[in-house]
This record gives sequence, structure tokens and C-alpha cells, in this order.
Amino acid sequence: MRKSNKIWEGFTDAKLEPIADKFNASIGIDKRLWREDITGSLAHVSMLKKTNVLDPKDCDKITTELQKIYSELNSGALVIDESFEDIHSFIENVLSERLPTLGKMLHTGRSRNDQTITDLRLYAKKAIDDLKIKIRELLCIIVEKAEMHIDDILPGYTHLQRAQPVSFAHHLMAYYEMFIRDYDRFVDVTKRVLVSPLGAAALAGTSYPIDREYSASILGFLEVSRNSIDSVSDRDFVIEIISNCAILIMHLSRFSEELVLWSTTEFGFIKLSNKFSTGSSIMPQKKNPDIAELTRGKTGRVYGNLMAILTVMKGLPLAYNKDMQEDKELLLDSIDTLIDCLSVFTPMIKTLSVNSNVMLKTANEGFINATDCADYLTSQKGVPFRTAYTIAGNIVKHCIENNLTLETLNLDKYREFSPHFDESIYEAIDMNNCLNKRTSFGGTATSEVSKQIKMAKDHLLKLNEA
Ligand code: ARG
Repeated sequence: MRKSNKIWEGFTDAKLEPIADKFNASIGIDKRLWREDITGSLAHVSMLKKTNVLDPKDCDKITTELQKIYSELNSGALVIDESFEDIHSFIENVLSERLPTLGKMLHTGRSRNDQTITDLRLYAKKAIDDLKIKIRELLCIIVEKAEMHIDDILPGYTHLQRAQPVSFAHHLMAYYEMFIRDYDRFVDVTKRVLVSPLGAAALAGTSYPIDREYSASILGFLEVSRNSIDSVSDRDFVIEIISNCAILIMHLSRFSEELVLWSTTEFGFIKLSNKFSTGSSIMPQKKNPDIAELTRGKTGRVYGNLMAILTVMKGLPLAYNKDMQEDKELLLDSIDTLIDCLSVFTPMIKTLSVNSNVMLKTANEGFINATDCADYLTSQKGVPFRTAYTIAGNIVKHCIENNLTLETLNLDKYREFSPHFDESIYEAIDMNNCLNKRTSFGGTATSEVSKQIKMAKDHLLKLNEA
């Protein structure tokens, strides 16, 4: 049975049907915001003291008691009673039990509407910081792996058809770029998270001479929201964070998909550590990439959260509506999911082993140097590219029919397709040469990828120091 002493008891008699009471409650989720709730209240009471809205001595007593509640909750001496409607009611109730008159003064000049969103913004800031650490860890491992495999050749794919040789390092560094953009998106959203709604009260502001700048600065907010109605109505930052999470997990999912593919017998490019793969209950030969699959699978959950919050907010009239209580579960679940995924994904990448020989063999079998064969005729022998393309295509066809590769086709045969060919064709189609001549900025040549890695390392060093 839920506690009947509702903080809103008065006009209504607070005799909710138990089933409605349970439905209405959010403590199951917002209990996780207890630290932020007390921190917010401490800032609020400091402000009430500074502005003399409340007697400074009373404020000190409230502060001391709130601090005690904080440390008791922290140590486990005080346990959250989930029969309360939400964390705000619970903490206010504990305070009022201990300081019967003063406890009831804490809510002067604020409402649960600005309180709840203050808490959530503080929680979000902390969660973003945690996520940023996890992303940086992943970025470091990607760069480390790239450095280890700077000379390993991989067939690059388009349409999942072998296309052109790239280095494994280059491929990994493509993920570096995706994840660093994800990182920047979290950095960017922080400035919109750190806007203090505290003091907007229910929606219209308050007639008490409060100092919103003061409480905001105590809490580490960068600004104070400008419009009290918007302050309690806005959940854009929740949408943005979940959206950032959705993009981040989309990248993790693409990476996961490649790990799943690469670890098949058919590809055999990588081997996942036994610590990050499972066996089958029935087929003894199997090693399953469950961790990668589950990461890919959890993408659905985060996309779902994004769609849910967008839908919750669509069509809501200003200002606060109870629909918005849904925001916390969706945000917390998205963040938890990403923290979980990253926590397991990074060590999985760190511990995987790369079968460079298999990658190279596959690269050699895929005619991925056919473009270079055509380029040879064009750049070295002056054959127009379209003609050169047709000649190279005919050569590939011949090789496939005769179980040959561009490397094993003899020069006489080459010359049957075009008299322009000479010995130098073998150098032109050499896989290492094909790779290393792609020196355009951002290209796959080892010299270029080394530069990319160097830039990334410098950047990460700065981020880790900041
Ligand atoms: N549990 C509510 C939420 O998370 C707190 C705000 C309650 N405000 C109100 N007017 N009922 O949104």
C-alpha cells in the first residue's frame, strides 16, 4: 500500500485507488535520482538563505538534515521506501518527519515541476560524463589495434563484394571517425543540458525574491533558463541524448555485424576471445559471437526509446503534463544500455585476434586489384580509361574461367588482351603497391593511415587530459 500522506494532499483528499496510485508512481525509476534530488534541494535552500526568503538559521538546520539524509542513503542506513509516489516526496517526507516545521518550508519558491527536471538534468550531465569515458576507452583501443595492424591487408568491400585492398588499420580507423563524432555529439549536447530550470516553479515563476543564478551556479549549471513555461515543458535534451545514444549504438551495431561476419568460418578474418564468445549447448564445434549480436540487438531497444520519447512529447500542450514522467525510464534505459554495451564491447575488441594471412589470401583471390590493372593501362600506357576498364574486365573473366589470378596470369596472356602490357604490370597489381599508392588525404596508404593514427592519438591525449 502506498503512503497516504501525499505531498499534494489538501484540495484533493489523496485517497487514490491503490491501482491508480501504483500506476501514477514513478519512484521505481526516479529513486535513482536521489543524489541529484538532495543536491538540488541543498542548492535551493542555500539560495533561500542567501535571499532571506527563509530564516538563515532555519536554512542551516534544513541543510544539516539534508546532508544527513544524503549520507544515510549513501551508506544504506536509510532505505528508500518505494511506497512513496516519487523520490521527491520520499525525501521531503523524511525531512519533515525529522524537522516537522522546517521540513515543510523547503518547498518554498519551487514546485515538483522544476525540481524533477533539475534532477534529471543533473543526472544526465553525470551520465554523459560516464558515457564519454566509455567512448574514449573504445577510441583508445581502436587506435591501439589499428597501430598493431597497420600493414595488414584486408579486402575492402562495397555491396559486400570484394572491391579494393585497404589496410585493416584503415578500416578500424573508419570506426574511430564514427565514434569520435558520437563523442562530439555528447560534448555538444552538454551545453543544452546544463541550463537550470530551478526557480521556474510550477510554470509561471514565483513571487518570492529568489536568486536563480545563485542556485544554478551552486549546481554547476552554465545558464539559467529564460522562460519559466519552457523550463518545465522542455524535454528536448532528453530527446537529444537518446538520439545521440541511438546513433552511437547504430555504429556499435555496424561494427558488431562486421565482427559476426568476420568471425565466421567463411570469412575467418578474426577470432574473438573465448572470454567474449560463447559455445552452443548442442553443437560442440560452435563458437558464437553472442556479445556482438546482443549489442546489435540492443539497438532496437534504444531506437524504441527514441521513438517513444518523440511520441510522448508530440502534441503535449504547455506546460507540464504527467505524460512527461515517462522521460526518465526512456533516458535511463538508453544510457544504461550504452554503458553496458560499451563496457563489454571495448574489451571484446581489445582481445580479438586478427588472422592477417586469411585476410590477405581473401584479398588476393578477389581481383580487388582489377582497378589497378586498368589504371596501369591508363596512367602508364595512355589507354583511355573506359577501354582499359573493358580490357581489365576481360582479363578477370578469363582468369575466373581458368582458375587464375591477376598475379598468376603470364605476360604472354596479358599481351593477348593488350600489347601495352609489359613486366611492370606485376608491380602495378602487387597488393602492397596497390594499397600504398593511394596516398590521397584520408586514403588507405600506410603513410596516410599512420598520419590519421597520429592525429587520433594526439586528439585522444588532449581529451583524456581535459
Ligand atoms: N514524478 C513526476 C515526473 O517525473 C514529478 C513531477 C510531478 N509534477 C506534477 N505536477 N505532478 O514527472
